[in-house]
Amino acid sequence: MRYSKTIIAAAAASISGVSAQRPSDTSVCDYYTTALLKNNTAANQATLLTLVVNTVVIGNYTQPNVGIAVPGILAKGTFNGEEVNLLPYFDGSLASSNRGGKTGVAVNFLDGGGAAPLKENKPANSESSQQYFLLTHLYQFFGSLLGCTQQGMAGFPAYSGSPSMYEAHKFMALDENELGYFITQVGLAAASFGVAEADITGVAMALQSLFGMRCSAPATVIPAQGAQLQAICIKSTCPQATAMPQCDAYAAVVEPSSVSMSMSMSAPASMPTHSGAAPTGTGSMSMPTASTTKPAGSPIPTAAGAVNGLNVAAVMAGVAAFVL
Ligand code: HEM
Ligand SMILES: *[C@@H]1O[C@H](CO)[C@@H](O)[C@H](O)[C@H]1NC(C)=O
Ligand SMILES: *[C@@H]1O[C@H](CO)[C@@H](O)[C@H](O)[C@H]1NC(C)=O
Repeated sequence: MRYSKTIIAAAAASISGVSAQRPSDTSVCDYYTTALLKNNTAANQATLLTLVVNTVVIGNYTQPNVGIAVPGILAKGTFNGEEVNLLPYFDGSLASSNRGGKTGVAVNFLDGGGAAPLKENKPANSESSQQYFLLTHLYQFFGSLLGCTQQGMAGFPAYSGSPSMYEAHKFMALDENELGYFITQVGLAAASFGVAEADITGVAMALQSLFGMRCSAPATVIPAQGAQLQAICIKSTCPQATAMPQCDAYAAVVEPSSVSMSMSMSAPASMPTHSGAAPTGTGSMSMPTASTTKPAGSPIPTAAGAVNGLNVAAVMAGVAAFVL
């Protein structure tokens, strides 16, 4: 899958700004696709999701942006005062992926070129990489969550990944700070493209409520996939669902183990081990840095004027108030 740089560049030239508020009968996806890329086509919706998800993963890489820095989920950070480091779940150093067995296996999800293709608005260099499947599934899943009405037409396929977010994430044993950090990066990425704070808060609350509540009852996210167990936050410290919790539906949480590199699937030779130290390996894994390289896909439009900053604390306080 390739997204045309010319589409983005052409759209940038035609941006005329975003009206103050999204009408309630227009989805977040449709509204910002129109605002940023003009035509509300399946291909443009796919481009919007690519821009946002790539930014969630590697941090802000497009120019211009509205002055909001996004570290990205692969960067170490903190949430609620706790250190968070999600990279080991993605680089093959933890046996935390569900491949149908009773325990997790290590998978390197940065095997398709790492950050470099993402900076070119692509999911991966190779369409057979784990990175490709993960990234395209994320575009598709978030496209559905955000109500992309053209998804399923040529240019933006429907979601084709695991139906249950619990099953997909269960061997990661994620806690509320890891989930909170992830959701914060989603919010920051959206803000960096000019998405209005009310829309960001709404999305963050939906993510927290669907995936951040321990013991949550089966819920439908992708209509064609029906009701599924969706809790991603499963540690005992996660807030428990208040409406009809079904703790018995979830297996006991097992911490993923660190693996030696020889055991991990498709791991590059010089991958860093999960030591808690900053990653130092290079190999074929290209880690995002605060790169000054101008991205190939620039310039990228933003819904300029919609937001000049995002009060992350306020958004997450809103999420917390909603959850608790
Ligand atoms: C709002 C929260 C989240 C959502 C909606 C979400 C969604 C998804 C989706 C749709 C997939 C693709 C599943 C597939 O290909 O079948 C996925 C995979 C994955 N997610 Fe998440 N995720 C979330 C939080 C997290 C967090 C906090 C982590 C922390 C490490 C994480 C790590 C991963 C990994 C490593 C995979 C690859 C799993 C595999 O293919 O085995 N996710 N996620
Ligand atoms: C939008 O779609 C119309 C009709 O398909 C087409 O004529 C026009 O060139 C498109 N504009 C852009 C900016 O893509
Ligand atoms: C990310 O955004 C910040 C804030 O606008 C900016 O200073 C920085 O240059 C951006 N980084 C990249 C790689 O574009």
